[in-house]
Amino acid sequence: MQEKLNQTEKDFKQDLTTKSGFDLKVKYLGRKNGLVTNLMKELATMNEADKKQWGPEINRLKKNVEEALEKMTTGEKQTDGSFDETLPGLELQTGTLHPITQITQELSNYFTAMGFMVLDGPEVESEFFNFEALNVPAWHPAREMQDTIWTEQPGVLLRTQTSPVQIRSMLKYGAPLYAVAPGRVFRYEATDNRHDHTFYQLEGLVVDENISVANMNAFLKLLVEKIVGDKIKMRIRPGYFPFVEPGVEVDVECAVCHGKGCGLCKGTGWVESIGAGMVHPQVLAYGKIDPKKYSGFAFGVGLNRLAQLKFGFEDTRMIHQNDLRFLKQF
Ligand code: DAH
Repeated sequence: MQEKLNQTEKDFKQDLTTKSGFDLKVKYLGRKNGLVTNLMKELATMNEADKKQWGPEINRLKKNVEEALEKMTTGEKQTDGSFDETLPGLELQTGTLHPITQITQELSNYFTAMGFMVLDGPEVESEFFNFEALNVPAWHPAREMQDTIWTEQPGVLLRTQTSPVQIRSMLKYGAPLYAVAPGRVFRYEATDNRHDHTFYQLEGLVVDENISVANMNAFLKLLVEKIVGDKIKMRIRPGYFPFVEPGVEVDVECAVCHGKGCGLCKGTGWVESIGAGMVHPQVLAYGKIDPKKYSGFAFGVGLNRLAQLKFGFEDTRMIHQNDLRFLKQF
């Protein structure tokens, strides 16, 4: 008997390092043929003297085995054997920040370091802030530049641009003002690889004394360098936006094809990336800032385009497709 006990104990210690809790339980405590169970059964058939001698020994072994198994499965409520704690766990998927989030955070940090405020504005906006105060009255043909999603409430729309934050921030903070406002905008537009009905912009506004076109151009150059690096070419050309005068558009050499022509740049080699200009005196007046004392420049960056330039993908709609095979690359 002593030998049996020793052997069982020795085997158990060894098995403990190699077998699963479930297998151990079957082998040692299994109702039918468990090694310890069998010892218990043997004990029951012993005469009084043997029982006295071996009872405590066998019970001690049983207790040790039970305790060891208990320790292995602590935290596991299931003890019916249907849970195999040795199976590998599910792999935890770690995500990455969405490309738009990455760019928004990067630019926000950049502007914060330069002393800009980072502001927010409502996505459901009034016609006044989205158009009128930006120098686009109801009759103005420029309204047609931006196909608008209107709500059922008259005068309330989904903002077509982040520019309304210009007016809101001027009214709230006055001049001098250095602010950016990243955010989501909406257009009632057919989608293709360059257009989506929902996309992202970053608005910028600088209002101070003696701000000139030269300041704006220098600033735009800095901005492009920050965004795509100084190895990529840029050009500034005149562009029309009703809330600035003069207005410009900034094109950046296409990062997907490096000027050769592709889907992103419509074969031109250039990607329109920033709209900008000197804030129109009328817009300053709507913002209750004296146009005689202050001047400034404003800019709007298309963050979808930026993400495409930075990460090099041709279809802007990937941004909203929530396809992990795409998103995991960044
Ligand atoms: N809001 C314009 C758009 O969505 C972009 C823009 C152009 C913003 C010129 C500006 C600006 O601040 O000065 O097309």
